[in-house]
Amino acid sequence: MTTQHALPSYLNPDDLGPWGQYLKQIDRVTPHLGSLSRWVETLKRPKRILVVDVPIERDDGSIAHYEGYRVQHNMSRGPGKGGVRFHQDVTLSEVMALSAWMTVKNAAVNVPYGGAKGGIRVDPKTLSKGELQRLTRRYTSEIALIIGPTKDIPAPDVNTNEQVMAWMMDSYAMIEGNLSTGVVTGKPISMGGSLGRREATGRGVFVAGQEAAAKRGVKIEGARVAIQGFGNVGGVAATMFANAGAKVIAVQDHTGTVVHSGGLDVAQLHKHVAEVGGVKGFPGVEQFMERDAFWGIESDILIPAALEQQITAAVAQQLRTKIILEGANGPTTPEADDILADKDVLVVPDVLANAGGVTVSYFEWVQDFSSFFWTEDEINARLTRIMQDAFKSVWDVAQDKNVTLRTATFILACTRVLQAREVRGLYP
Ligand SMILES: NC(=O)c1ccc[n+]([C@@H]2O[C@H](COP(=O)([O-])OP(=O)(O)OC[C@H]3O[C@@H](n4cnc5c(N)ncnc54)[C@H](O)[C@@H]3O)[C@@H](O)[C@H]2O)c1
Repeated sequence: MTTQHALPSYLNPDDLGPWGQYLKQIDRVTPHLGSLSRWVETLKRPKRILVVDVPIERDDGSIAHYEGYRVQHNMSRGPGKGGVRFHQDVTLSEVMALSAWMTVKNAAVNVPYGGAKGGIRVDPKTLSKGELQRLTRRYTSEIALIIGPTKDIPAPDVNTNEQVMAWMMDSYAMIEGNLSTGVVTGKPISMGGSLGRREATGRGVFVAGQEAAAKRGVKIEGARVAIQGFGNVGGVAATMFANAGAKVIAVQDHTGTVVHSGGLDVAQLHKHVAEVGGVKGFPGVEQFMERDAFWGIESDILIPAALEQQITAAVAQQLRTKIILEGANGPTTPEADDILADKDVLVVPDVLANAGGVTVSYFEWVQDFSSFFWTEDEINARLTRIMQDAFKSVWDVAQDKNVTLRTATFILACTRVLQAREVRGLYP
């Protein structure tokens, strides 16, 4: 289906990037929205975009400028919520798409947030720790006018972590003159963070994987799992699958691909990555592999957990797997989705599979407001229940409407968002 979209002037219609991928997904859900489709245009343009210049003084005394963004896609159901990405390839289109996927994800698991996302176009590996801190603090001050515990709450994403969140929180506290721990989530435990947050996205991927495997008749014990990305999401998912008896047969990250048909030693691989910065050179492997050959490896479960637009139509043709769990945001293009549906590969979409992170971010925010902290067991049990319930709701919609799990998640989520929009009405 190709629909003509009324595009804002700041986008290049010939190269829409990830935002174009998101628009196609919205086209697929629109016929299922009934009378709410009258409001669908609201999902096709972000509510607010802030583009900022982030200057810092480098350690050598020179001045460097970086491009920063915060996009608030939709706030009909609550304050904005979404991560901050530091990566050299960050673009406005990408941050827009990521913010929109947050709108869908938050509604899919029914946490009371809208969708937002931020990023800086920088390779943080080129910065010293001091430079990274100055960059984070200046970026926070530039976006401070639109973020806040009841306005928009950033969190970690690619190349940002607990330390970056602590600097963001401190910068916001200095500007506002009070300590608002609820302004960001994914903070260190010592500073209002939540137990279980670091592992939450990978844990949620695992829970979604258990549900999907049960539907497909795949036993987790002995299942062959291939993972792209061995950071927060992919690394934790690898550990959880290995602990449950699955064989993690291949891992790819930005440094290379390691393969062992009998199952990699995931704990040793973590140690290796912590020491040398990537999987390359890991001694416990059968073979190192060319980048693109990774997609041809036969597996039961494939977890893309790195960046978006990895599974293109050409890659989808090569894939030999039964279940795809999208740990990353936007890893599969709509064209690839169609091929995978034809091949009967079950795709658990990002907006469901990786929602564990924002779910525990929500728990963190609630704990910060009440200054009352829960045990890790309580957090994991609540997370598991929310993921299982969301999976079941999506599965039922997919069966009822005979659509993919992605379109089913969009139906459930966009209905919730647009119902809120309709009942609130337009201001003024
Ligand atoms: N951290 C979260 O809570 C969270 C929540 C939801 C979704 N996500 C999504 O999950 C994905 C990964 O996020 P993360 O937090 O784990 O990031 P991370 O920075 O911790 O890890 C990223 C991983 O991807 C790998 N990678 C980068 N470029 C690659 C390439 N070209 N080929 C292969 N591997 C490559 C890196 O080596 C690293 O192992 C992103 O799409 C992110 O938006 C993260």
